[in-house]
Amino acid sequence: MSLQLDARQRAMLEEMGVRVFSPELPVGALDDALPSPPRGGEAALPAARVAVARPATVAEPVADRTPFSSARAMPAEIAAMDWDALQQAVAGCQACGLCQSRKNTVFGVGDTQARWLVVGEAPGENEDIQGEPFVGQAGQLLDNMLKAVGLNRQGTGAQGVYIANVLKCRPPANRNPQPEEVLQCEPYLRRQVALLQPQIILALGRFAAQSLLQHSVPDVATMPLGKLRGQVHSYEGVPVIVSYHPAYLLRTPQDKSRTWADLCLALDVMRAARPA
Ligand code: URA
Repeated sequence: MSLQLDARQRAMLEEMGVRVFSPELPVGALDDALPSPPRGGEAALPAARVAVARPATVAEPVADRTPFSSARAMPAEIAAMDWDALQQAVAGCQACGLCQSRKNTVFGVGDTQARWLVVGEAPGENEDIQGEPFVGQAGQLLDNMLKAVGLNRQGTGAQGVYIANVLKCRPPANRNPQPEEVLQCEPYLRRQVALLQPQIILALGRFAAQSLLQHSVPDVATMPLGKLRGQVHSYEGVPVIVSYHPAYLLRTPQDKSRTWADLCLALDVMRAARPA
């Protein structure tokens, strides 16, 4: 599945210093060329965009060489579901053991027409109680990050965003998702992407990145998150930008500036896709 950039979009990305990636280059090879974005804390995330001054890369997805059809097929019933049916299916899901400890499933929130999709890892305690993604402290930071690029979870149109997780149920004690849980839950996220048809996906944290890029980036399972940043990946033909998880940023605020650079890259991709 290729990242559909026509000659004009490629030219615009080049002009912005976003270099179109040669498939022969190892993923992350140009990581060191990433800009040093302005430093600042959460509150200091600027409302205005800061240009990505030095080249990022547009990764030619490996899926072009290894077609997605080789990956696990989406169960046919899920592939046919509309939003309501999908939400009901998730609400009643018993595909893995997480259904036994969850209080609520956490399907997703936001504008189902949004151009932006944010993908996190899994619900935590607050999300499990409220049935909505990113409602805890990390969620407040995410809301601020989104605000910085003109988005909010209640927004529609240009301000619209949809927020979902790889897992729809909380892993007990917030432990890491297990491969089998990710495998069972994957078709739900894939259907959400198919229904939403976003123009960009922001993958927050290691699990989101691994889940979305497992069929297109070799060794993604062992690759540090930093190696996946600064490139435009692809999931089902949708550009994917990888960034840090807000919970990590709460513990490591010095990386908020890098996150800002990632958001700027996402804005650049959006602008290249939809010139004014
Ligand atoms: N962390 C996530 O990845 N998702 C949530 O919904 C909450 C915390």
